[in-house]
Amino acid sequence: MIISASTDYRDAAQAKLPPFLFHYIDGGAYAEHTLKRNTADLSNIELRQRVLKDMSELSLETRLFGEKMSMPVALGPVGLTGMYARRGEVQAARAAAKKGISFTLSTVSVCPIEEVASAIDRPIWFQLYVLKDRGFMRNVLERAQAAGVKNLVFTVDMPVPGARYRDAHSGMSGPYAAMRRILQTITHPQWAWDVGLWGKPHDLGNISVYRGKPTKLEDYIGWLGSNFDPSISWKDLEWIRDFWEGPMIIKGILDPEDAKDAVRFGADGIVISNHGGRQLDGVLSTTRALPAIADAVKNDITILTDSGIRTGLDVVRMLALGADSVLLGRAFAYALAAAGEAGVSNLLDLIEKEMRVAMTLTGARSISEVNSDLLVHNQV
Ligand code: FNR
Ligand code: LAC
Repeated sequence: MIISASTDYRDAAQAKLPPFLFHYIDGGAYAEHTLKRNTADLSNIELRQRVLKDMSELSLETRLFGEKMSMPVALGPVGLTGMYARRGEVQAARAAAKKGISFTLSTVSVCPIEEVASAIDRPIWFQLYVLKDRGFMRNVLERAQAAGVKNLVFTVDMPVPGARYRDAHSGMSGPYAAMRRILQTITHPQWAWDVGLWGKPHDLGNISVYRGKPTKLEDYIGWLGSNFDPSISWKDLEWIRDFWEGPMIIKGILDPEDAKDAVRFGADGIVISNHGGRQLDGVLSTTRALPAIADAVKNDITILTDSGIRTGLDVVRMLALGADSVLLGRAFAYALAAAGEAGVSNLLDLIEKEMRVAMTLTGARSISEVNSDLLVHNQV
């Protein structure tokens, strides 16, 4: 039974998934200090309890980039989601759409854009990396536009892949990786049947459509490593801004100076993120980075954040620190692995309930009232 979404779905995902997939989701870079601080720093944020203010009418609704959201939460881009559940991107997108929130499809999804976009009525958001193969970037942007995508999330904190030691230990990469993955599949028959067999094809859908041949999971790490582009600078993003008609959201900002550059560049939004502690270990948690960035650009750009958000209370904390909305990463990946679309729907219901409790007990009736007034000061 799921009582606490944050820990119960994680445990259930661990029981169900072959270890190489669980640790790929769960792990971070190097010694995982930033990964741990993301959740620890956020849970240390203290809120002012307020009482007797007639909190019978609450509204969680908000608008983001012109879209109505039932709450200020969207599903962020998570690669290989179709390996965690059968056609996982479609299942997660359905749960998001039913809840009235947005789903972001990763560049490195299993299901291609067309499959996910046609499964739901709401436009999906699409995430793109800066890749060496500019032909692919153009192709995928054209396909996203044709599929009705309006919001482009451009991830900039991966000019090189982070060193994830857990992946080498778990069989995601490292010695005898392919053999180890086969053994893990045999010992997880429920996953092997449901996702391993019936969830095929297991290629990187967006890339396969472009190349005209399957890009298999075996090629995934290699493809990622060889395709990220460390030469990237703001100038390289200009053609995309000119080409892309909808809002452009820059994901992976952790410093106020970069946030100001994003405003100067003409971005519509930023995602304050350390990629869930998966890139550079030792950088600030988003809880610590957010207030200074909000001070610098709050009135100029829409601020999203992620990394460490597991509950509705965490969402309220991030909004109090200055975010307009949040993205979920691992939180929904665990729920999806554990219980598919129903798991993600249940997680989103729990997050809504937790937000309602937090808002009731802090005296905030609407999302605009969830602001720095809720914070006990001098604590970050
Ligand atoms: C990610 N993240 C990510 N980000 C992105 O821009 N494109 C991607 O394909 C992926 N893939 C991915 C896979 C997995 C398994 C994880 C856990 C994360 C990063 C993601 O969007 C987000 O920034 C983090 O997940 C936020 O941290 P929490 O909330 O998961 O702790
Ligand atoms: C990751 C990439 C895919 O974090 O963004 O694993």
